[in-house]
Amino acid sequence: MTTRHPLRRLTYSDLPRVMTIERRTFPTPWSLAMFVLEVSKPTGIHLAALRDDRIVGYVICSRYDTVWHIMNVAVDPDWRRMGVATSLLEGLFEEIGEPEPRLTLEVRRSNAPAIALYERLGFRAAGLRRRYYQDNGEDALIMWRTPATLEGRMDDVPNAGPVPFLP
Ligand code: COA
Repeated sequence: MTTRHPLRRLTYSDLPRVMTIERRTFPTPWSLAMFVLEVSKPTGIHLAALRDDRIVGYVICSRYDTVWHIMNVAVDPDWRRMGVATSLLEGLFEEIGEPEPRLTLEVRRSNAPAIALYERLGFRAAGLRRRYYQDNGEDALIMWRTPATLEGRMDDVPNAGPVPFLP
């Protein structure tokens, strides 16, 4: 069993370190303004994972109506495959604190590591957003984690449909 990494809520003063990880991670990183906007939302949950008091990963999650949207997850490239993202997402589920939370996210269709992570935590692919990513025109896979997906069903997932075979 992997040990849980320590977590805490993100604050504005963490954002320079978050931006460093963000820029090392994504070809089109979020701007500082985007992080500030998300972190300012009082209904959102934004967590940092720590190693020796240093941030090694983060998750940004916003609530829209009754659904939680995972907006951003990243782990410092030097700290991947050590359970950091798993700790962040399990911590997020706990912080949400609802008995039957409904979560959704978009992920690049080619992002096999992230898709594997999400599937391991109970998310299931429910559809595609065609050419969602403007930098390369890639499709987004829409994933949901709901009471039904945790039992291998999709009947409480909005507009769930078959997803074409992933190349
Ligand atoms: N290849 C295959 N499976 C992978 C994987 C990889 N490179 N990385 C994670 N997984 C799967 C595995 O099942 C893994 O369990 P295992 O290590 O016991 O096999 C499981 O996810 C948990 O991995 P974990 O160590 O918790 O993930 P992580 O801390 O390395 O973070 C990402 C995973 C995706 C967040 C990290 O690779 C990352 O920051 N990627 C770039 C940003 C990104 O793609 N974010 C998601 C955008 S939607």
